[in-house]
Amino acid sequence: MSARRARLGVLVSGGGSNLQALLDAARQEDFPAEVACVVSNVPTAYALERARQAGVRAEVVDHKHFGAKADFEAALRGVLADAGVEWVCLAGFMRLVSADFLKHFPGRVLNIHPSLLPAFPGLHAQRQALERGVKVAGCTVHYVDAGTDTGPIIAQAAVPVLPEDDEASLSARILAEEHRLYPLAVRLVVTGAVTLDGLRTRVDAIVTGDGRALRSPGAPK
Ligand code: GRF
Repeated sequence: MSARRARLGVLVSGGGSNLQALLDAARQEDFPAEVACVVSNVPTAYALERARQAGVRAEVVDHKHFGAKADFEAALRGVLADAGVEWVCLAGFMRLVSADFLKHFPGRVLNIHPSLLPAFPGLHAQRQALERGVKVAGCTVHYVDAGTDTGPIIAQAAVPVLPEDDEASLSARILAEEHRLYPLAVRLVVTGAVTLDGLRTRVDAIVTGDGRALRSPGAPK
């Protein structure tokens, strides 16, 4: 693998356990990406502390300080550009990004969502799954488009829904899979193993039992 690592900007609003998974993955020598900066729209988000502890630049861009969404996003983009960010990972970021924001990172904005999309987009996905009575739930990493949780799916992981589950227990089971899936999906996209065809993605990789992705001989360069 080349020494050049893709530069990630991780956008957060809360606890940042998915951010932590990415920070931990990036500590592995062969991980093809590094977290260049973390930006939170919530000043008190614990995710900021996780970034600082990992020695990663942590910034607050509070949406409440901006009258217009365009101004908020311009400030956000300013921080990302300053940090040399190439890929944007939404990780519990509780703001919708606009089509204009996406234009600045074409095909390079990812999100993780706690359901098997296209089921249960939007807020409280785990609660929606319980209320609908599904027997299998899970999580999805997808490219972000202008809709809410509607972009092309990169990777998914499933977990069972147990009879005794409540929102907390199901969320915890899904979250454990999120922490495995997000680094894997990042590894796939930044190494060019994922190609887009409309809403469908093709993943040219062999994924090993320990969650590592190896390029297949036929993968695009
Ligand atoms: C995760 O469940 C993620 O799928 C959703 O928001 C939650 C963020 O959790 N988008 P954390 O801040 O990464 O712990």
